[in-house]
Amino acid sequence: CGIVGYIGDKDVYPILIQGLQRLEYRGYDSAGLAIYNDTLQVFKCKGRVSDLEKHVAEENISGQIGIGHTRWATHGEPNDRNAHPHTSMNGDFVLVHNGIIENYAELKSDLQKKGYTFQSDTDTEVLVNLIEYFYRNAEDVTAEIAVRLALSKVVGAYGIVVICKNEKDQLIAARKGSPLVIGIGKGEYFIASDATPIVNYTDSVIYLNDHDVAIINKGSITLKTVENNPVAFKITKVDMTIGDLEKGDFEHFMLKEIFEQPKTIEDTFRGRINPEHTEIVLGGLLDVLPKILKARRIIIIGCGTSWHAALVGEYLIEEYARIPVEVEYASEFRYRNPILNSEDVVIAISQSGETADTLAALRMAKERGATILGVCNVVGSSIARETDGGVYTHAGVEIGVASTKAFTAQVTIMTLFALKLAKENGRISSGLYLDLIKELSEIPEKVKSILVKHPHIKEVAAKYKDAINALYLGRGALFPVALEGALKLKEISYIHAEGYAAGEMKHGPIALVDDNLPVIVVAAKDHYYEKIVSNIQEVKARKGNIIAVVTEGDTGLTSMVNDLFEIPKSHPAVSPLLAIIPLQLFSYYIAVMRGCDVDQPRNLAKSVTVE
Ligand code: G6P
Repeated sequence: CGIVGYIGDKDVYPILIQGLQRLEYRGYDSAGLAIYNDTLQVFKCKGRVSDLEKHVAEENISGQIGIGHTRWATHGEPNDRNAHPHTSMNGDFVLVHNGIIENYAELKSDLQKKGYTFQSDTDTEVLVNLIEYFYRNAEDVTAEIAVRLALSKVVGAYGIVVICKNEKDQLIAARKGSPLVIGIGKGEYFIASDATPIVNYTDSVIYLNDHDVAIINKGSITLKTVENNPVAFKITKVDMTIGDLEKGDFEHFMLKEIFEQPKTIEDTFRGRINPEHTEIVLGGLLDVLPKILKARRIIIIGCGTSWHAALVGEYLIEEYARIPVEVEYASEFRYRNPILNSEDVVIAISQSGETADTLAALRMAKERGATILGVCNVVGSSIARETDGGVYTHAGVEIGVASTKAFTAQVTIMTLFALKLAKENGRISSGLYLDLIKELSEIPEKVKSILVKHPHIKEVAAKYKDAINALYLGRGALFPVALEGALKLKEISYIHAEGYAAGEMKHGPIALVDDNLPVIVVAAKDHYYEKIVSNIQEVKARKGNIIAVVTEGDTGLTSMVNDLFEIPKSHPAVSPLLAIIPLQLFSYYIAVMRGCDVDQPRNLAKSVTVE
């Protein structure tokens, strides 16, 4: 979900609407806003921010203080009633909330016993009524005290912004588990789930920490803990431009981000490879490098696309640095009882740096003594701040919900990391080390040469756009590429797609192969090549339609497959960075041809800050 808030002298409505548009990628099943101007006006509805605009078009709205929300439903279906903001029963408070109040049922029944009634099915309405209950129940309880008292009763995660009808010129924000950033302007403050709505106005921000409560008045801000202890804050600069947040000449953010990859991959390794191309320097790991080199094993955790990047990392680190690596879904790792100690290194990969499962898994690993590291894209995100060290991906803001440039940036970091470890522990010859640095530095140009072939990829996409299922196959470090290719297709086009290790095909998925099934085989030249050619033949014998990603000049497969996507020759260590590019474009064009909302696919959200 996305939160935005403003207090200052400007007209708040356009700030809230534009902010919500910026945040829409975080959730988009309903939207709403509240504006304070002597009275509290609340507008909300099911659907997109554009639906909210239509909903309020006839209204006379004015005010200089307000909050807004765009929702990804957890409790209660997406409808007008469940949309945020939520108002307390007697109208004293209005609130927007990200996260989940786990003990909401218990709190709700206590409040019901005290006479409270509820309009929605949400946990958020419980919280706003709890605040009002504390506010009304004793003398001398200010809005701030009521918010802190209510939060002390809450189990779960929240990022909230609250307005109290009786306390003019004040917003109260609090965070535990769900990110909030405060932008500092001249006599005005902006609050949001991330910096994207803020950069239009200011680049000075404060990132709230868990348990912080911010009391924001027109000309001042105070931070304290839920327990009323003062908190010192640090003002930092946001490294984001408005251009990063606009589509430019592209029809969709996803396409823009696919085409940005030559630059984002380069941005990710620039500064990490010395100008002579002889050394890899990962500054964020300097302090922990000795620990990593002595690690009993490395565990890499993540969700979704980031988990696929982790799998590529596993192949590369084991191959070149010979350190044992495990890859786990963060959501599984955190709930089982993993065996961890101080000899283990746990690396979280996360574009947003806020994914709730990944963050919780990391905290658990830290408690058990492991060294924890982060590979994040969003600077200042929770994971980046809580880890013992890490490396940023520098892919820039990724708005398309389906991750593209963040993936290749993560894989770039995994490649640098594997080579760095291999060099430090003497497992790689200096010749190969130098060759692979050179190979990596050539990737941006090679990606460009794939992107220019987009008309061909579009033609092939047109042939398969009506598929019902699709199977993606790969081996070695290209197996995670097959998984990622399948995920891209299913998340944006809603075609059921499965990624499989090609050698496993004969143990089940082969039963699906018939003349209707597109089988996308990632068959770049590497030492698995002969094996994957056998898999192609097995599919062909059963009349499957084969689309192969092949190395330029490999004519051996032409007669066996229906369609080819060529990628430039490269060392297998870096070929995942190339092989994924045609698959991203293939999914993109299919989704567009099917009329899908590519940037905001149904039911998904960019940043999943709930468990
Ligand atoms: C969501 C997004 C995915 C993303 C995953 C992990 O499900 O829709 O695109 O891969 O979260 O996000 P993270 O920010 O941790 O990389």
